[in-house]
Amino acid sequence: MTDPILIKDHIRQIPDFPKPGILFYDISTLLAHGPAWRATVDRLADAIGKMRPDKLIGIESRGFLVAAPVAYRLGCGFVMVRKRGKLPGSVIPHSYELEYGTDTVEIQTDAVKPHERVVVLDDLLATGGTMRAAIELLRKVGADVVAAAFVIELNFLGGRHRLDVPVTSIVSYD
Ligand code: PRP
Ligand code: MG
Repeated sequence: MTDPILIKDHIRQIPDFPKPGILFYDISTLLAHGPAWRATVDRLADAIGKMRPDKLIGIESRGFLVAAPVAYRLGCGFVMVRKRGKLPGSVIPHSYELEYGTDTVEIQTDAVKPHERVVVLDDLLATGGTMRAAIELLRKVGADVVAAAFVIELNFLGGRHRLDVPVTSIVSYD
């Protein structure tokens, strides 16, 4: 059956945010539209369910909004990859290079067991640096990263070429 909801119609583009010259792809308007957001979650769930994941991973912060409802629909566990200092208890850190400086992401030590199949979700694939760091972190804890999934992919930035797992996106821009 053809889905009548055009998800792109609900993604707002805001020029010059967060810096002059950057066009920001805003999912706030998609989240605020019930049928369009449900269609987005359903499409991701249909694609990811076939991969038979044990757990879904959300990357702070907008990745949480995407991964949690898909995990609920599939009956999978949901696990957070967070910025440094946000998770309690024992954590595994992973530092990665930014354009200027470095950043660190963390996961709780016992959140994923070795060889568990995980799919990592985020709202947007731009350069791929954020997802790449999350995948590297997950491999440190022994996870089997079967795919990366996004609502939006910016093809012109080539992020998928920085990732060594299959990439799924619901909408893309050239
Ligand atoms: C944005 C977006 C992705 C990432 C994509 O997150 O939500 O996580 O950037 O960029 P990349 O592919 O070039 O790494 P941001 O760092 O703005 O934080 P937020 O999700 O907490 O808003
Ligand atoms: Mg983000």
